[in-house]
Amino acid sequence: MKIFLDTANLDELRQGVALGVVDGVTTNPTLVAKEKKPFREHILEICEIFRNVNGGIVNAEVVSTDTEGILREARELATWHPNIVVKVPMVPDGIHAVSILSKEGIRTNVTLVFSAPQALLVAKAGAYIVSPFLGRLDDVGEDGLKLLRDIMEIYRAYNFETQVLAASLRHPIHVVQAAKMGAQIGTMPFKVFQQLFNHPLTDKGLTGFLKDWDKARETLGEIMPTAVGPKAGR
Ligand code: E4P
Repeated sequence: MKIFLDTANLDELRQGVALGVVDGVTTNPTLVAKEKKPFREHILEICEIFRNVNGGIVNAEVVSTDTEGILREARELATWHPNIVVKVPMVPDGIHAVSILSKEGIRTNVTLVFSAPQALLVAKAGAYIVSPFLGRLDDVGEDGLKLLRDIMEIYRAYNFETQVLAASLRHPIHVVQAAKMGAQIGTMPFKVFQQLFNHPLTDKGLTGFLKDWDKARETLGEIMPTAVGPKAGR
């Protein structure tokens, strides 16, 4: 599963990308507005952060809701950088625009998807990515993971090429379940990404290993010339 960060914050993106396991980013108008920077410049800075990420994807969203406006914005965004995928809202005019853009070779990500019928239309329109929002469904007492399961089943039944991006992930269990279902991409806030690394037994185990190593240092000699310690670097 590809891991995307759901943020427009440059520091978070730099930190995530530096770890070598982040494949892309999803921005949205709310996330971009929080950063208070000119939109084009900001998106291009993000593209620069992903310069060395193979096939890295930078999602940038339109704010028009009518077909003409969406087409205008999408065509403009697509000229900014080859890594950009254009996010389009799940409204009839959005689907209309996506069906045109896909024929022009412009990659789109249909966002704000909350039902299986919507996801079916997204695939029919030829979108590159569909984004079901799991967490927001959970927030209103529905089952976000069930929606993802339904979409995966429908897409597999017809071999749709549209990639499924599990969005609005709130915790590591969402990430694991999305991966188990075979979602091609999961996007998550930086905090959730950091949580993926953690396990108390890893910390406890490492502390124990290092303590035992330190206690026995005198007897261990120069097994590891690059190991930390007074003789490191010789
Ligand atoms: C996806 O593209 C969206 O930006 C995102 O996942 C929304 O998540 P939220 O419900 O945490 O705002």
